[in-house]
Amino acid sequence: MKIDGKEYRALWQEGQCVKFIDQRKLPTSFEIYTARTIDDIAYAINDMVVRGAPAIGAAAAYGMAFGRQNPKKSADLLKSTRPTAYDLFYAVDSMTEAIDHDENAFDAAAAYAETIITNCKKIGENGEKVIKDSMKILTHCNAGALATIDHGTALAPLRNAHEKQKKIFIYADETRPRLQGLLTAWELFHEGIPYALIADNAAGYFMRKKDIDLVIVGADRIAKNGDFANKIGTYEKAVVAKENNIPFYVAAPASTFDPHLRDGSQIIIEERGRQEITEISGKNIMPDWVSVRNPAFDVTPKKYVTGYITEEGIYKK
Ligand code: MRU
Repeated sequence: MKIDGKEYRALWQEGQCVKFIDQRKLPTSFEIYTARTIDDIAYAINDMVVRGAPAIGAAAAYGMAFGRQNPKKSADLLKSTRPTAYDLFYAVDSMTEAIDHDENAFDAAAAYAETIITNCKKIGENGEKVIKDSMKILTHCNAGALATIDHGTALAPLRNAHEKQKKIFIYADETRPRLQGLLTAWELFHEGIPYALIADNAAGYFMRKKDIDLVIVGADRIAKNGDFANKIGTYEKAVVAKENNIPFYVAAPASTFDPHLRDGSQIIIEERGRQEITEISGKNIMPDWVSVRNPAFDVTPKKYVTGYITEEGIYKK
């Protein structure tokens, strides 16, 4: 992704370190987080310095490289950081295999990261075909370069359509409580793609007004039957899209498809801390007695999905 004329990735290796754009600080400040150990990586994933399923997977691959002397312990630590994104588990298992086969662990992690980037590029090429000139497109959370190292999943087709000079307009859901929609706005702003950030609960209003022609979202885990987990609020958007006959696409690489799960009821949903709800920018906005629940993801049944945009093509089933 290009930021102020300079190419960036969400994370990259530099000597013995792995550097991350610190996504907790965006868009108000652009800071780099440096990981030198597996614990630094585990912290970065858990505290959401890095986030988005494919990027978490790449971070975990580097975590395994740092922890290569004790692959079992390293795998257990990394797998305990966030439970929902399948990419994390896929990356850790791929790296365990590479380490078992005596491959150079940092080379294997770098190759893993490159594969993600290549796959997202292909998702962009394949997904662009569903975007027609003048379409207004809704996306939820941030499934952009920040979430995938580069290009994005849901945002990759938008980038490609824009490059091909298709006139598009993006509605970016704000995505309470972590406001990942602001990260999407940040990426679109730097790409010069016209957009508006909207409150999560405004999407239905725009759909009913026929102001949204298409929805594209990412995914954290896709079960064998096509049910998928994504950022909390995705399910509602899918239901309202169907009610309004708006095509709803899920963009994700193979590393997000979990071959072990029969359907979405088996997906573990992460519940995060109360502060994400009770605080904004570190400032408490609610009294201590307020009781909260904070599920980070929800599951959307496959019947709401028009198609799955992958690196191999678009699957309808
Ligand atoms: O909690 P997050 O920010 O890691 O959640 C991210 C999402 O839900 C994304 O939509 C998903 O990981 C796809 S990212 C290409």
